[in-house]
Amino acid sequence: MTITAVATAAYIVASLLFILSLAGLSKHESSKSGLTYGIVGMGIALVATIALALNKVFDLEDYDLTWLPIVLMAGAIVVGALIGLWRARIVEMTGMPELIALLHSFVGLAAVLIGWNGALQGAHLEGIPESDHGALIGIHAAEVAIGIFIGAVTFTGSIVANLKLSAKMKSAPLMLPGKNIINVGSIVVFVVLTAVYVARDAHDDTTGLILLGVITALALFLGWHLVASIGGGDMPVVISMLNSYSGWAAAASGFLLNNDLLIVTGALVGSSGAYLSYIMCKAMNRSFISVIAGGFGIEAGPADDTDYGEHREVNAEQVAELLSGAKSVVITPGYGMAVAQAQYGVAELTSELRKKGVNVRFGIHPVAGRLPGHMNVLLAEAKVPYDVVLEMDEINDDFPETDVVLVIGANDTVNPAAAEDPSSPIAGMPVLEVWNAENVIVFKRSMAAGYAGVQNPLFFRENSAMLFGDAKDRVQDILSAMR
Ligand code: TAP
Repeated sequence: MTITAVATAAYIVASLLFILSLAGLSKHESSKSGLTYGIVGMGIALVATIALALNKVFDLEDYDLTWLPIVLMAGAIVVGALIGLWRARIVEMTGMPELIALLHSFVGLAAVLIGWNGALQGAHLEGIPESDHGALIGIHAAEVAIGIFIGAVTFTGSIVANLKLSAKMKSAPLMLPGKNIINVGSIVVFVVLTAVYVARDAHDDTTGLILLGVITALALFLGWHLVASIGGGDMPVVISMLNSYSGWAAAASGFLLNNDLLIVTGALVGSSGAYLSYIMCKAMNRSFISVIAGGFGIEAGPADDTDYGEHREVNAEQVAELLSGAKSVVITPGYGMAVAQAQYGVAELTSELRKKGVNVRFGIHPVAGRLPGHMNVLLAEAKVPYDVVLEMDEINDDFPETDVVLVIGANDTVNPAAAEDPSSPIAGMPVLEVWNAENVIVFKRSMAAGYAGVQNPLFFRENSAMLFGDAKDRVQDILSAMR
């Protein structure tokens, strides 16, 4: 049996494991096994790819071996793995989306480098009849141009997403005049340049390199502009969209490298990322096309200077008293719970209340926090039972029968303006309708706006009261008061 045959079989096993991994990751209960399948699949894929690469470079099957390239490849793997381990160990859960965006940028950059490498090497024509050379050279040129384009868009788009998520760049959408024409125009120019690149005389290297240089620069610009034009509220969709782009970039590299596993994996990532973007758009009532086209059709609205009146404040003792008389409590956590790391105290409060016979449930908004499933992960970490953690659609009808809602560090996801004010920047986004409960207690440190930068009229409603301070400290104060 040859190394190539074993590696091909390993690739099939790895592809199956990746499919099992995606299936496992779609549910709480099976997510750990989903991760394990993914890790094992990637391990097998890495070993098989390294074996194939060594075989190709050194013709291992003929035992003709030199060590320097092996040392270089091993060095690159060790350095990459160490950096990956270091970043994964120090990253906070709240910093995950930024890290994911950065990792997507690496995939994009790799696709650009592979594309350029493919262009410099030219199409592999050995053993192909001369009559087919023209068609093959054309297909190869198209793969190069498309791979570089998708890779470069992913690269700069992901860097902008990283900067926006880490607040190093303004999260408000960039509103260049004629932004839609810029986006559509860039794509039209890319198609024309690619057609010229494919049809050119393949021996004219200078024209080819100039065309590729322009395509690369255009795609780098488009990636930057597409993501810069998208507002902070739509960032979750952007992240999964870039995830999808990075998959297509990897698939394009797979065609260039003649690597079937990369094509399969890229297509899996590309299609699952696109589907996730679609369901997130549905959850936020955003137009999918509008978001992937860089905020197409979204115009900046006027700043909200409405006077909502006075807000009411309560202290931890008053909240403890309110809770002691409640039969039904719903907790709606948000980004602030993650910042405060209040999930352990919240879990303790939940178990205290349940011991007293109170029906305590959680209402989770699909984009609460900063990444899909963020709140579910935190609550699972603090050992809150899965069966009391409900999705937004499962809990929304129960708020009118709820005595107390504890809004712990959530803001945009409980904003009634989304449901009631058509001029609000988040209008139409489905939200947790907490204002229908008898009492709403909002845990936050100030009257500042949430991620989307819009004021929340919930805070000024008659049945709402603010409990100011760090969420973790306030939850501990309530626990002390209850005991
Ligand atoms: P946000 O609207 O971001 O509001 C978080 C709230 O937490 C703020 O009002 C903040 O108010 C409060 N807070 C921060 N630190 C706190 C602390 N230590 N103690 C107590 N409160 C604290 O949260 P959300 O309701 O979860 O909404 C998520 C937003 O993020 C949405 O707009 C969503 O589109 C966006 N987003 C989501 C994702 C994903 S995939 N989930 C990714 C990127 C962006 P103070 O500063 O006054 O304390």
